Amino acid sequence: MTDRIIDLEIKLLLEAVFEQFHYDFRGYSMASIKRRLRQALTHFRCETVSQLQGRVLHEADAFPQLLSYLTVQVSELFRDPTYFKALREQVLPHLRTYPSLKIWVAGCGDGEEVYSLAIMLREEGLEDRTLIYGTDVNPKALRKAEAGVYAVDRIPLFTRNHQLAGGKSSLSDYYTAAYGGAAFDKSLTRNVVFSDHSLVSDAVFAEMHLISCRNVLIYFDRQLQNRAVELMKESLIRRGFLGLGSRETLRFTEHAEAFTDFAKDVRIYQKRGDQ
Ligand SMILES: C[S@@+](CC[C@H](N)C(=O)[O-])C[C@H]1O[C@@H](n2cnc3c(N)ncnc32)[C@H](O)[C@@H]1O
Repeated sequence: MTDRIIDLEIKLLLEAVFEQFHYDFRGYSMASIKRRLRQALTHFRCETVSQLQGRVLHEADAFPQLLSYLTVQVSELFRDPTYFKALREQVLPHLRTYPSLKIWVAGCGDGEEVYSLAIMLREEGLEDRTLIYGTDVNPKALRKAEAGVYAVDRIPLFTRNHQLAGGKSSLSDYYTAAYGGAAFDKSLTRNVVFSDHSLVSDAVFAEMHLISCRNVLIYFDRQLQNRAVELMKESLIRRGFLGLGSRETLRFTEHAEAFTDFAKDVRIYQKRGDQ
């Protein structure tokens, strides 16, 4: 089969998913969609994307499964510890000057990034004045995030990351291990709201002091990156902060001018005061 036919089938599948399920993957990077669909074809034992389209339209449980392939859930607690260390040491001193704080974790996946921030805010004495919004398009991921239970064999990595991120306590203070899982303390999400939100199609969350949107833009094409960054720009207060993933940058987006580099090596930007 030619690449042109495969591209056409993918286009039709994404159109069908949008029409039928209102999830819009049409502006995602084609290279990443192709990679994800290759895995989905194996899982569904389909020869072609057109066959997969038939399954998704006619079998009730097929779309939720496909959604898990289309949205990548890889994450860690304190993923890229130097990012969290920079937040703690460079951004929090600014945020501390506000009487109340709002943080948005856009594309929070299974919640690891939210728990990392909640732990850091508790360690820094800012937990009580902060509201965190954790949003994602994948409802299964949001349910996992709400549950806050992670495989216990991930704990050594999480513990190492927490220490490298400047952790001031022992990670074991925040979870209870039981039945092969580590259940994070429910009190950590006292000031957290998890909700369904798409950077592709939904509206602004207003008055944020910090937005952490890591490893999400990487899946979008240039136009969609522009849309998402514009949304985040509109959501931030003046001089609010935006943190991206280690392989992401604002440099090529239309809104780069609205921000200054704050901690360049860890991709933390600050919205300019005149924006
Ligand atoms: C690789 S995970 C990143 C998780 C976490 N932010 C991190 O860096 O460890 C990417 C997340 O983006 C979410 N996502 C994909 N498209 C999205 C969209 N349009 N709006 C919001 N989240 C989206 C996926 O469901 C997935 O949970």
